[in-house]
Amino acid sequence: MTKRTVVITGAAAGIGRATALRFARDGYVVGGFDIDATGLAVLADEIRANGGQAHTGVLDVTDADQWRARLADFAEVAGGRLDVLVNNAGVLSSGPFEQTPIGAHRAMVDVNVAGVVNGCAAGFEYLAPTPGSVLVNLCSASAIYGQPELATYGATKFAIRGLTEALELEWRRHDIRVLAIWPLFVRTAMTDDMDTGSVGSLGIRLTADDVAETIARAVTRRPRLLPKVHYPVGRQTRAMMLGSRFSPGWLAREINRRISHT
Ligand SMILES: NC(=O)c1ccc[n+]([C@@H]2O[C@H](COP(=O)([O-])OP(=O)(O)OC[C@H]3O[C@@H](n4cnc5c(N)ncnc54)[C@H](O)[C@@H]3O)[C@@H](O)[C@H]2O)c1
Repeated sequence: MTKRTVVITGAAAGIGRATALRFARDGYVVGGFDIDATGLAVLADEIRANGGQAHTGVLDVTDADQWRARLADFAEVAGGRLDVLVNNAGVLSSGPFEQTPIGAHRAMVDVNVAGVVNGCAAGFEYLAPTPGSVLVNLCSASAIYGQPELATYGATKFAIRGLTEALELEWRRHDIRVLAIWPLFVRTAMTDDMDTGSVGSLGIRLTADDVAETIARAVTRRPRLLPKVHYPVGRQTRAMMLGSRFSPGWLAREINRRISHT
């Protein structure tokens, strides 16, 4: 296989779909996986109609066995080559913590954390032998400071931040670049019925294409002496990340209290 390959989870909609289309345009063989078979079929048709190569399959990221099986299927198409793995699938429930059903809290932990851990574990076998491979994890601006009404969701993204930072160091010896993408609110199904204080203060200004563009640029960025690990998406997120680095803890807390109207 001479063509570069990418595997994307949650590829049937939103950021995953935009990322799949973006990589297909750049000439990658796209492996798109999701629990939504209908959305995947639409994606595959669109990629092929534009002359691209797509392989799709149903994958629940919380299931480690399914991960191994789907990646083995994709390896047959891709000749074992995996240049980029994008751990994108995610779920979100917002609102007061105590009014959110425990099943919804647990689903966020299962999909957003265990799903990514499964992906890293299953993907290693293919990323390691592929020279210059990249692992991309979808983090979020909600991992800058704990977010009221998004407590568990934000906590899962803090976990992704930690996982990414650790693997970025650990997998250098395998020549796998590991990075995290940090969008603030993005206009997708995930934010459709979101009505938190922070959405009211900050608005929803990003599109799925904005995030796909940041992912594509991050992946193709030339390696530097000090590799970049965290990639904010958009001006608002960049300003918030920079601000949090230099402001004392009490100020970050006060700013977040005001933004979230708590
Ligand atoms: N939308 C935002 O504001 C925003 C902001 C920051 C980070 N993110 C992150 O970006 C990623 C994508 O979000 P989005 O806005 O595109 O969401 P979305 O709801 O539009 O799409 C998510 C996709 O993931 C799929 N999915 C859900 N559970 C799955 C599972 N168990 N296995 C496989 N696929 C599953 C869904 O079917 C859907 O196609 C998520 O990790 C999210 O946390 C989103």
